[in-house]
Amino acid sequence: MLKLEHLTKVYAALPNEYAGGIRDANIDLAPGTFFTLLGPSGCGKTTTLRCIAGLETPDTGRITVDGRPLFDSDRGISVPLHRRNIGMVFQSYAIWPHMSVFENVSFPMRVSKTQRYTSAEISKAVDAALESVGLGGYAKRSATQLSGGQQQRVALARAIVHRPKLLLLDEPLSNLDAALREDMRIELKRLQRELGVTAVYVTHDQSEALAMSDTIAVIAKGRMMQVGSPRDIYFRPANEFVASFIGHTNILRGRLDGAGNSVALEGGGTLRCRTAGEAGPDVAISIRPEDIALQRAAPSNGDGMNILPGVVTAASFLGNVVHYEIKTGNAGSTFRVEGEPATPFDTGAEVVMSFRPEDTLAVPRS
Ligand SMILES: Nc1ncnc2c1ncn2[C@@H]1O[C@H](COP(=O)(O)OP(=O)(O)OP(=O)(O)O)[C@@H](O)[C@H]1O
Ligand SMILES: [Mg+2]
Repeated sequence: MLKLEHLTKVYAALPNEYAGGIRDANIDLAPGTFFTLLGPSGCGKTTTLRCIAGLETPDTGRITVDGRPLFDSDRGISVPLHRRNIGMVFQSYAIWPHMSVFENVSFPMRVSKTQRYTSAEISKAVDAALESVGLGGYAKRSATQLSGGQQQRVALARAIVHRPKLLLLDEPLSNLDAALREDMRIELKRLQRELGVTAVYVTHDQSEALAMSDTIAVIAKGRMMQVGSPRDIYFRPANEFVASFIGHTNILRGRLDGAGNSVALEGGGTLRCRTAGEAGPDVAISIRPEDIALQRAAPSNGDGMNILPGVVTAASFLGNVVHYEIKTGNAGSTFRVEGEPATPFDTGAEVVMSFRPEDTLAVPRS
């Protein structure tokens, strides 16, 4: 449905340094996909979205929607923004305060260059769009009389009113408070499914990305590091950056043996592991905090497990879980561990960490 081929937009031509923009992005999405661009601030998410929307002209590459080229540097094609039939929602509400809710939401239909609508068609579409974002009956209100969450719903209604096939969302929930953001996440996802629209969603919040997406692209410094399902990204990260960006994982460094199933740690000691990607021989090791078990002494049935002794240096009780910091002898590495609240350990306690080789993932360094 949406295809990006070698999409590149570079702001300053520094050959070896990241100078902003996006480089050589490739994706191919099936219709109805909820696709997320995930990465730290300044990695090129908004740039990618603006290129798809037609707000930015890429340097090179191709953008195709439903087989129709919107941009193709080789063939000199660049469809103007108002002819792309795309719905957009941005981080700032960007609704017009001097207009009513009706005027805001109907705007894309009133100014459409691709289609003429009768006022009855517009009314009907606006009502349907407001209904679907939970603002039925708000059409006559002035936009300034709405809360932040309601304003963002108006922006969403405006983006879907003309039934676009592609919906672009740039951190649409980041201005909302935590509770409202959670609600809107679920609502947005439901709406996207109901409409069957393909969505490109931008966020730097990894839990938002995991919860909402069918496919995630993890971006660092203008490059797509990995494109995959939330489970792929979480359980089979392509490299150290992806592993460390998703969840608060523990990262160690070491050298893989020839068979690829054990690793000599830089700080001393050996762990059994599994490999992901083209790892080796110098690798990063990722161990998730929830995969580590804590005990007072080495487990008697710990055959084949990785065992590391350590000392509790911090413990925070969060109700359903206790977050620990465990210091080990391995070059003084500190581990994050999520423990059972029923069997707490105090700061200063000597403990033994055990974790399975399957949960000890060797990935390429980055
Ligand atoms: N018009 C521009 N001119 C020059 N550099 C730009 C321009 N727009 C963006 N950049 C640079 O390109 C890089 C990527 O910017 P972009 O806005 O795509 O990041 P982002 O991933 O959306 O970040 P954030 O999460 O902070 O919104 C940044 O380093 C930014 O400074
Ligand atoms: Mg941005």
